[in-house]
Amino acid sequence: MCFLHLLSLLCVWLVAPFPATGDSRYKQGDPVMMYVNKVGPYHNPQETYHYYQLPVCAPEQIRHKSLTLGEVLDGDRMAESMYQIAFRQNAERQTLCEMKLSVNQVEELRTAIEELYYFEFVLDDVPIRGFLGYMEESGFLPHTHKIGLWSHLDINIEYNDDRIIYANVSVRDVKPFSLDDVREPLSLTHTYSVRWFPSSVTYDRRGDRLRDSSFFPKSLEIHWLSIINSMVLVFLLLGFVVIILMRVLKSDLARYNLDEEGTDDMDQGDNGWKIIHTDVFRFPPYRSLLCAVLGVGFQFLALGTGIIVMVLLGLFNVHRHGAINSAAILLYALTCCVSGYVSSNFYRQLGGDRWVWNIILTTSLFSAPFFLTWSVVNSVHWANGSTQALPATTILLLLTVWLLVGFPLTVIGGIFGKNSAGHFEAPCRTKNISREIPRQPWYKSAPVHMAIGGFLPFSAISVELYYIFATVWGREQYTLYGILFVVFAILLSVGACISVALTYFQLSGEDYRWWWRSVLSTGSTGAFIFLYSVFYYWRRSNMSGVVQTVEFFGYSFLTAYVFFLMLGAVSFTASLRFIRYIYINLKMD
Ligand SMILES: *[C@@H]1O[C@H](CO)[C@@H](O)[C@H](O)[C@H]1NC(C)=O
Repeated sequence: MCFLHLLSLLCVWLVAPFPATGDSRYKQGDPVMMYVNKVGPYHNPQETYHYYQLPVCAPEQIRHKSLTLGEVLDGDRMAESMYQIAFRQNAERQTLCEMKLSVNQVEELRTAIEELYYFEFVLDDVPIRGFLGYMEESGFLPHTHKIGLWSHLDINIEYNDDRIIYANVSVRDVKPFSLDDVREPLSLTHTYSVRWFPSSVTYDRRGDRLRDSSFFPKSLEIHWLSIINSMVLVFLLLGFVVIILMRVLKSDLARYNLDEEGTDDMDQGDNGWKIIHTDVFRFPPYRSLLCAVLGVGFQFLALGTGIIVMVLLGLFNVHRHGAINSAAILLYALTCCVSGYVSSNFYRQLGGDRWVWNIILTTSLFSAPFFLTWSVVNSVHWANGSTQALPATTILLLLTVWLLVGFPLTVIGGIFGKNSAGHFEAPCRTKNISREIPRQPWYKSAPVHMAIGGFLPFSAISVELYYIFATVWGREQYTLYGILFVVFAILLSVGACISVALTYFQLSGEDYRWWWRSVLSTGSTGAFIFLYSVFYYWRRSNMSGVVQTVEFFGYSFLTAYVFFLMLGAVSFTASLRFIRYIYINLKMD
């Protein structure tokens, strides 16, 4: 019974991010419910608390609104407010409540105002934001530090016919209620006025009306020139790499194949990649882990492409981050079959026989670090009473999604992959005894390859990375999803190209341990992305405090890890194809 209930909740929550929200029509005088949602420091987007945690006017019995999964993930916790608003009826100076504030409560409010707390109300799905209070700091001498609370709010609502288009609060004509020098309990009356304005904006266009008047600063200026510039540079770079590699390869092949027919006097010092043809397809150590990396990497590739395509097609409402969150969770669970299939298929090809272990490794390769990070972040939120801490039901629900959808799909994908696997196609036979690898110069060592292979893809997207960070970690609305798609494609193709080039250098030094190297050399882009996030935190954002910092670095780490898996999988596949190609074209005796 409980299970069925959970399942029905699941369906409702997962479908909720998609449009078709009920539209509400009102008649003159109909009550319009204002919900109070969250409060938090203006500069910390992921640190939010319940409005009623502050000493504010609250009803005796707090009634919560049921929310979609996306809203819960976004830290929304809506509850009914005490504002009494009637459709198209102005109200002047209504009393919200009278309250007594103890000295401690005043101190609490003062701290919140000093930290620039803002509040968010929701009226007919329109978010209304404003600052909790007013702070004035001025001059050197005499130093003044005034703090006041907005105890009166003017609520302005725009309507079109029988629907609400837009709403805001303003305090332009209001004097703040001073909270300075309070030594004894204070009595305070909260009041509000409601004013209705006709609007010509239609209901379908009200999203634009909201976007035009954002409470949060719009610092996101898109620099088209630099985006185009970086893209052109990337294409030139890619072109050069491809052309040079093709020429070198052509001359290599011509030389090797001529030597074979001709006089057999191969220059002993310059054997290059031909000499290792009996070793290059020798299976690497830690095969199971390699296959798991490939599997999860391809899963995220599918997930990323899926989300971008869905957004491009306008499949969901991108007003709120929450919608994307819950769509991502659903898609993650569904794409688990990709990871199972790819991983166990390749594992079989490499001759692995511990199939069950491979599947377990594949499922936990992402979910274990995710769960660990998430527990830390959630505990910090929870300990601080932030609304970003997920309630137990949501946690249970997410676990159910994983247990009932994600994990079984991985296993099913794994069974299909295992059964459809053929032999590993190697153009050359591998000898039993491995060749000795000559000493490599420093510039062919793994750390140098990782630095080059990570930096180039990273620099290809670094311009756009700022916009993406500002969207995810700020309150910006990213609207250039087309560009996001191009950036994704650029990142993957640069990664693949660089990996092929580096693999070529490695092989020409007669070093045949390319399997793991090709994963690491471009996968290290993830490390650069993490470094960028540190830079973003210190230099480009105003975040502060334990809660926001832990959240930021926890999820930045996970993002970097996902990029590592994705790029690792892509560059490994590119290198494998490249190596097969060159050894097929080599004439063997
Ligand atoms: C709030 O809305 C009213 C009515 O549309 C408008 O006149 C006013 O400028 C808005 N105030 C702010 C601060 O956006």
